[in-house]
Amino acid sequence: MNGKSAGKKTAELPVAELSPKEASREQARLAALLRRADIAYHQQDAPFISDAEYDAARRRLREIEARFPALARPDSPTGTVGAPPREGFARVGHAVAMLSLDNAFTDQEVLEFDARLRRFLGLGEAVLSYTSEPKIDGLSLSVRYENGHLVQAATRGDGHTGEDVTANARTIDDLPEHLTGAPAVLEVRGEVYMTHADFAELNAAQRASGDRPFANPRNAAAGSLRQLDPAVSASRPLKFFAYGWGQLSEPLADTQIDALARLAELGFATNPLTRLCHGPEELLRHYREIEATRADLGYDIDGVVCKVNDLALQRRLGSRSNTPRWAIAHKFPAETAWTRLLRIDIQVGRTGALSPVARLKPVTVGGVVVSNATLHNEDYIRGIDASGNPIRGGRDIREGDWVKVYRAGDVIPKIADVDLARRPPDARPYEFPARCPECGSDAIREPGDAVRRCTGGMYCPAQAMERLRHFVSRNAFDIEGLGAKQVETFYLLGWIREPADIFTLAERDAGGEKAIAGLEDVLNRLRGGADPNEQKKALAEALGLEHFDPERARERFEERSRTPLARQHGWGVRSARNLFHAIEERRRIALERLIFALGIRHVGEAAAKLLARHYRSWDGFARAMSAARVGEGPEWEELLNIDGVGEVMARALVIVFHQEGERALIERLVAQLREIEPAREAAAPDSPIAGKTVVFTGTLERMTRSEAKAQAERLGARVAGSVSKKTDLVVAGPGAGSKAKRAAELGVEIIDEDTWLELIGDA
Ligand code: IVH
Repeated sequence: MNGKSAGKKTAELPVAELSPKEASREQARLAALLRRADIAYHQQDAPFISDAEYDAARRRLREIEARFPALARPDSPTGTVGAPPREGFARVGHAVAMLSLDNAFTDQEVLEFDARLRRFLGLGEAVLSYTSEPKIDGLSLSVRYENGHLVQAATRGDGHTGEDVTANARTIDDLPEHLTGAPAVLEVRGEVYMTHADFAELNAAQRASGDRPFANPRNAAAGSLRQLDPAVSASRPLKFFAYGWGQLSEPLADTQIDALARLAELGFATNPLTRLCHGPEELLRHYREIEATRADLGYDIDGVVCKVNDLALQRRLGSRSNTPRWAIAHKFPAETAWTRLLRIDIQVGRTGALSPVARLKPVTVGGVVVSNATLHNEDYIRGIDASGNPIRGGRDIREGDWVKVYRAGDVIPKIADVDLARRPPDARPYEFPARCPECGSDAIREPGDAVRRCTGGMYCPAQAMERLRHFVSRNAFDIEGLGAKQVETFYLLGWIREPADIFTLAERDAGGEKAIAGLEDVLNRLRGGADPNEQKKALAEALGLEHFDPERARERFEERSRTPLARQHGWGVRSARNLFHAIEERRRIALERLIFALGIRHVGEAAAKLLARHYRSWDGFARAMSAARVGEGPEWEELLNIDGVGEVMARALVIVFHQEGERALIERLVAQLREIEPAREAAAPDSPIAGKTVVFTGTLERMTRSEAKAQAERLGARVAGSVSKKTDLVVAGPGAGSKAKRAAELGVEIIDEDTWLELIGDA
């Protein structure tokens, strides 16, 4: 009997006559129905049951929960109005941990596994018997039966705690709802998977309805099982192979092979390719047989699992923290395929890293159609690794090349090799762009860094959102009521594109039209980021939509733009007023906060403070940065002279101020500010060194260098790292060399440590 026919009968029974088991099933059915109806009504405007039917279902669910209070769940539709917010599944602790498996990739490793076990068990030359089972590429599920009734199903989670997916598991036909002759407590464990045929059909339907297709059957199975709406799960064709067990009130059998047979008798699907093997040679032979039939199975497997057959021996062998000693997964080698590399595209990540992606002529690799592969970085394309050693025999990769693609597990496909014999005669070495393809700013590679990065900062659409989050962070502008989440939402709604826009938001809000970027523009900007699908999801969420749908998105986008902030979801008159007030307050900002907020690479809080102290005013700082040239001239020297500013940071600063787009953006921001407070002058009024630039050189004997530096700064001096015309005083200890010499040349006053201490009144 399967769950669905049993459900129908139960649906007609009065609540007073339901057994606890039946009530539980009814509760799941009604809750699922109501949730689906809520979503259809509130979010899709497509009700599928009448109001009367809806009310009847809700009444019945309330009655059930009243009669069986233990069944009432906090997320029950009886306690909610409209669709519940997206929330996770209840957590389920596993009474017996759900372990993972150790891997073997070679025959040798399987032989070693067998030898290790025989040693452990002290078996000498005796032959150990194993079951050899296909390793199904799906996701594991633990299904609990009590007195023959399915009561709970849980995912593996971290092995100790999983997610309660009972309602969804009930929709899997391979899982019987009732068992006859089973132990009173039986937790069946196995793999949920999807066949290739079902996967293809599901993806065709996904595409037809404008939804995102799944990358492979495993993702499709996982996505389907972890659907919050069991009705959706029910429409997805999931299957299940039982391969083991968790908690049991009595043993199933004495051996693995008999236990599997017993599970099959009870009505579970077990894999027909499972064999009993005597010794490792038989294991290896069976592995090859399975490997040969792999392509024709109609579902994905990624290896063969070898398990000690004798359950008493399994117990003796026991487990390590995560994996049993008595089993090993003999994995298939990564699948490969040759195809043509059509084009190399550059993607710009959230932090500005330029990542090359190979666009391939689509090819099937291990059952999955692959059309993209990662190329890591420019060295990888050139055929050298991080330490400059050749990879692929030093062969570079060019557009038009034939390349060998491989997939290992779930990871992004990679390129293993290139066929020089088939290289088109006109193929040219790939020239990695020196400009960001998203914003046109310079893309530079710092010494020692394998990655080239865009210097466009906030101006670059790929980085804008990340940079805005930084801009409002606690040690930057720190605007109350405008945290990372809000700034992200405002960005996605087209209300702000760059920091300056934050300061014009109140005015636009009052004017009745907030958007300064259209939906197209927002979508275009998102395209640059690392994961377009993630971003579409974020956009849908910002718009309050369940899925991204262009038509609805446009409507919502415009509606949101015209609705005053005070009337937006999650806001009120007071919070909106407070936000605009907090923004207004921030038109006055400390120089160091402003410098830090720009999010310039390598310029953290401490560095921002140093720069603010040194340059004193925004104008002084901006003018110096704009005038500086990397590696030359007095402004460059001055920048490097600041103690704590090294070449890498100096270069980053100067480069930013020479990017047209970013520079203009910074100017627009500064134009919105009322007052940039200069760095605090820490000097005591009577300090003899206030305002002086001091350089320490040689060994200090009565204090450490950092102590001396801190003390000097406390008294209002600037501490520089090297001597220049601007240096007022050099404190030279024993061993002082070139700095003291240069000071002498420039006629700068040089004193020793004792004189210094006397001078500052600390002798
Ligand atoms: S036995 C304590 N048998 O592989 C032993 N696992 O990489 C636990 N899997 O989490 C697993 N087919 O999801 C076992 N015939 C099979 C399997 C199998 C697939 C999965 C399972 C496990 C993962 C470990």
